[in-house]
Amino acid sequence: MEAKSFWVLLTTLLFIIRGWRQIEGCLEQERIALFQLKSFFNDPIELKDWVDVKGSNCCQWERVKCNITSERVISLNLNHARRSTSNGYLNVSLFLPFEELKSLDLSNNKIEGFVDNKGSLFFISMLTD
Ligand SMILES: *[C@@H]1O[C@H](CO)[C@@H](O)[C@H](O)[C@H]1NC(C)=O
Ligand SMILES: *[C@@H]1O[C@H](CO)[C@@H](O)[C@H](O)[C@H]1NC(C)=O
Repeated sequence: MEAKSFWVLLTTLLFIIRGWRQIEGCLEQERIALFQLKSFFNDPIELKDWVDVKGSNCCQWERVKCNITSERVISLNLNHARRSTSNGYLNVSLFLPFEELKSLDLSNNKIEGFVDNKGSLFFISMLTD
């Protein structure tokens, strides 16, 4: 193969791979974790586009912001996303997949405290609403 065609082919391949990565959008383990959070943040009129569909780009979901370079979730705004008459405990283990998360808004969700995967309870009085 001529050097010139080689470079054309290589550039085309890189372009296709980049394009594919952009369509891919978010990491599958983060998409799954977001969908798991939805059973707690259950307000039926919120988080409607948080779907359990493989390949769905969670970076484009409402209330989610990603770093466009790393395609990792960096911000989650879950203010007022839970509908319940009683206070609840949020499982903090569900946030472990979000390794680059920097901003998290959990206000107005009747969160009494947190529970980890061993069942230990944490209380954070600051969060009461
Ligand atoms: C986005 O991710 C890149 C690569 O991991 C990192 O260098 C950059 O600092 C991140 N930007 C923000 C705003 O977090
Ligand atoms: C919290 O979530 C983790 C990960 O999904 C799960 O393994 C664990 O059983 C959950 N803990 C409680 C107390 O529900």
